[in-house]
Amino acid sequence: MANATGSFRNDIRFLLGDEERSLRDVDPQMTVLDYLRLEERKSGTKEGCAEGDCGACTVVLGEPNGTGGMGYRTVNACIQFVPTLDGKQLLTVEHLKSKDGNLHPVQQAMVETHGSQCGFCTPGFVMSLYQLWLDGGEDDRGAINDALAGNLCRCTGYGPIIEAARKAGGVAANDAIEQKRRSDVAARLTAMVDGTKPLAIEHAAGRYYAPRTSDELAALFVAHPDATVLAGGTDVGLWVTKMLKRLDPIIYIGDVADLKSVTETDDAVIIGAGVTYSRAHDALGRVAADVGELVRRIGSRQIRNAGTVGGNIANGSPIGDTPPALIALGAKIVLRMGDIRREVPLEDFFITYGKQDRHKGEFVESVIVPKPAKGLAFKAYKISKRFDQDITAVLGAFALQVENGKVTEFRAAFGGMAGTPMRAKKCETAVIGQDWNETTLGAAQRALAQDFAPMSDMRASKEYRMLVAQNLLTKLFIETTAPEVATRLVGKEAAYV
Ligand SMILES: Cc1cc2nc3c(=O)[nH]c(=O)nc-3n(C[C@H](O)[C@H](O)[C@H](O)COP(=O)(O)OP(=O)(O)OC[C@H]3O[C@@H](n4cnc5c(N)ncnc54)[C@H](O)[C@@H]3O)c2cc1C
Ligand code: FES
Ligand code: FES
Repeated sequence: MANATGSFRNDIRFLLGDEERSLRDVDPQMTVLDYLRLEERKSGTKEGCAEGDCGACTVVLGEPNGTGGMGYRTVNACIQFVPTLDGKQLLTVEHLKSKDGNLHPVQQAMVETHGSQCGFCTPGFVMSLYQLWLDGGEDDRGAINDALAGNLCRCTGYGPIIEAARKAGGVAANDAIEQKRRSDVAARLTAMVDGTKPLAIEHAAGRYYAPRTSDELAALFVAHPDATVLAGGTDVGLWVTKMLKRLDPIIYIGDVADLKSVTETDDAVIIGAGVTYSRAHDALGRVAADVGELVRRIGSRQIRNAGTVGGNIANGSPIGDTPPALIALGAKIVLRMGDIRREVPLEDFFITYGKQDRHKGEFVESVIVPKPAKGLAFKAYKISKRFDQDITAVLGAFALQVENGKVTEFRAAFGGMAGTPMRAKKCETAVIGQDWNETTLGAAQRALAQDFAPMSDMRASKEYRMLVAQNLLTKLFIETTAPEVATRLVGKEAAYV
């Protein structure tokens, strides 16, 4: 299956800035951050937390976009493994200065607005600003906040950095030159890897396979049923950097072309397991605005540019953000082992804490998210200590249909209330068939206390969790019966949370 049969290539090919790299004999778990600092001696990219939280290690990755140009995205170099660079361009703060020595507009703006003091966070901020600039610049405070939420600064304060974002946004890229640069890079990358065999590394430290089709992936996973599937690495990366695990072998699904599509029909959105949150966002937002907003609040821009909905499901976490919403919507997942596929309602996938309905050698191929039927209200609320870049304490998601004042359909799913994301069946029963009024709301809240016995941990006490979950039902009630009542921050206020 691997190199012995000649079905794979064993060198990692990518562009570091404009320079071609072809790496052999690399420990597949080496992080991009370690590679840059220890092997390339490029120390501009910093290590703050080594777990995707602080943004000091932010780099920009570019990939051919399939139409002759390049797509760019920020990622956290501390939790990405070097082989995932194959076929991509890696840009760091060292690559921004022009050949004549002039600072890039985003660097110049940081200087002019005094956006840097000790400077430790600065390269990470500069790379997030560079991404904004690549995307055409930004003046809107909310959008700038969103782009910078994954970068932490302990000294300067965010005001000058946000000012720098605005200032740099006004210095537009020269379109013709920039487009030409991008198409040249895309052509070089394509020439480097297209028509070559997929990457496989068999290193003393561990093996790594990067199939390019789901058929290849299925065959590899059957051959290596104990392999760790690697998607965006926003969980798996931390197993290596924080838990010091050795993973052998790793099967990377980020190069599997047929897992990277988002398909939208009249009734559903189907998301391939290799689709990042950033790419899934718009389609999920069209399913229901609150699902889009949930996805927008996952981690940071860098995390959403790498992490996948498939990974959020497969990791089985009781506090993953998408599962409760997808369960309330009635989503299904397609699991595949070899040539056999099965469709499982998402709510049945989560058996108990740490145990999912997934066999060895079986992977999540796609997620099928039905669009709500006409008249079905869908609401989802994430409660966390911080608004951005924080893991959920409690998440409630509700699908409610009321006809002539009576509830005809109600699905309520919660995260953070049990060992798995779970429906609140007693609560649902207390509501269905009843008038949608305060009496029913009270009954639903009392029933919720029968559905769950939440635990206390560092994020919240069990009493807090229950009270918040019950209050989320009140919020649902208000939003569905008195839409004129302001329950959410909007516009300018939302930009300042
Ligand atoms: C800083 C930070 C902030 C975060 N914030 C949030 C947040 O706000 N909300 C939230 O829900 N999560 C958050 N996370 C957790 C993480 O981003 C998500 O769980 C993410 O969806 C994982 O997806 P991934 O593609 O990165 O998965 P990976 O890390 O690649 O994999 C996760 C797990 O799923 C398995 N897996 C992945 N894909 C498949 C597949 N197709 N088939 C079978 N198994 C598979 C892997 O083997 C592994 O066990 C955060 C993480 C970090 C580091
Ligand atoms: S070092 Fe903190 S996000 Fe990477
Ligand atoms: S300038 Fe010191 S951490 Fe931001």
